[in-house]
Amino acid sequence: MQNVIPRRKKTIREIDVRGKRVLVRADFNVPLDEDGAIAEDTRIRASLPTIRYLCERDARVILCSHLGRPQGRVVERLRLTLVANRLSALLGWPVVALRDCVGPEVESAVAEMSGGDIVLLENLRFHPEEKKDEPAFAEKLASLAEIYVNDAFGASHRVHASVVGVPEYLPAVAGLLLEREIGTFTRILEDPERPFAAVIGGAKVSDKLEVLENIISRVNTLIIGGGMAATFLASQGYGTGASHVETDRLDAVREISAKATKRGVRLLLPRDVVVAERLETGIPTRVVPATEIPDGRVIADIGPGAADDFSHELASSRTVVWNGPMGVFEIPEFAEGTRRVAAVLANLRGTTVIGGGSTTDAVERFGLADQMTHVSTGGGAALTMLSGKPLPGVMALDDAGTP
Ligand code: 3PG
Repeated sequence: MQNVIPRRKKTIREIDVRGKRVLVRADFNVPLDEDGAIAEDTRIRASLPTIRYLCERDARVILCSHLGRPQGRVVERLRLTLVANRLSALLGWPVVALRDCVGPEVESAVAEMSGGDIVLLENLRFHPEEKKDEPAFAEKLASLAEIYVNDAFGASHRVHASVVGVPEYLPAVAGLLLEREIGTFTRILEDPERPFAAVIGGAKVSDKLEVLENIISRVNTLIIGGGMAATFLASQGYGTGASHVETDRLDAVREISAKATKRGVRLLLPRDVVVAERLETGIPTRVVPATEIPDGRVIADIGPGAADDFSHELASSRTVVWNGPMGVFEIPEFAEGTRRVAAVLANLRGTTVIGGGSTTDAVERFGLADQMTHVSTGGGAALTMLSGKPLPGVMALDDAGTP
C-alpha cells in the first residue's frame, strides 16, 4: 500500500516553497524540568528535517507551537525562548524568538525576514482564541505567510486555530514529520507484514478501549500488560487484590475477548505479575500467578514468566505496534517488564512502532529508541490513529493533486 499522505494529502515536496513565507505549525510541547529547562527534546529534533528542507530552499520560515496549557494568558515559564535556543543550537543557525504570535511587532519582524531566516512565534496558547479555533485569530496567523505547513503530528487531534483554522486561508500541506507519522500508522494498520502483534498496556482500559476495539480486527496477536490487565483478569472471574478494576468496562473487555476468539486472534494476558502493597519505590514486591493476586496487593508490573511468554510471541512477529507500558516503569522496581518488551522489539527483524506518550518515554529512557522503526512523537494523536479515527489537522490539509 502507498503512503496515505502523498496519495491523499499534499506534502511540502509538492508545492513551490522557494523564497516564500511559510508558516510551520510544529509541536514543541516538550517536557520541562523543575527548573524550567527542557527535560527532553525529541519533538524539537523531530522537526529539523522540515525546517532544513525549507531553509535549503530559501524559504522564510515562521515556526509556531504551543507549550503546556497556559489557559489563554501569558505564563513566563511557558515562553518558547528556550525552544528557539535549542533549535538554533541543533541547526547551527539563528532562530529568533518573537514576543507574541500575532500583532504589529510580529508583522514587522516577518516583513524584514530574508530567505533562509527562521523566527519562532510565541506560545500560541497565550491567546485564548487558539484553543477556541477563532477564525479572526486563524486569519491573523495566516496573514503572516503564503503557505501553511502542518508538521505538528502531536497536536493534529486538536481542533485549534493553528491546526484546523489557518488551512482555510492558505495553501496547506503536510511537513516531513507529519507525513512519516501518518504514513507509518496507516501502513501498519492497513497493510502490515504478518504476523502482526499489538502490545497494549498502561493503567486504564478506558484510555485504550477505542484502540482495542479497532486493533482487534487487524492483528494476529494482542498482548495485554500494565494495570489494565486487572480489568481483563476480573472479566474472567479472577480476584485482582487491590488493583484498580474498571467495573463499568468489564462487558466491553469481554466483547474484545470474544472478538479475539471469533477472529482467531491470540490474546495473551500476563501469566504472572509483580505485586506490591503500594506503587512506590522501596516497597517490598512479590511475583505471583496472575490468577492468585493476594488481597491488599496491586499489580505493579508483569512477572518474569509473562515477560518470557510475550518475548517469545513477539520474536516471531514481523510487525509490532506498542502502546502503554507493562508496569509502573518510572519506579525502578517495576520497570523490568517494560524493559524486557522494549529489548525484544529493539532486536526484532521486522517493523516496530512505538505509539507515543509514556511508551515513547520508556524506550527513550532505556536508550533503545534508535533501534525501533518508528517512535511516534504523538500521545493523543497516536491513540487517535490507532483507534482508526481521522485527525482533524490532517483532514484540513489540501488533497494531493489539487493545484
Ligand atoms: C501532546 O503533548 O500530546 C500535544 O502536544 C498536545 O498537547 P495537549 O494535550 O495539551 O493539547
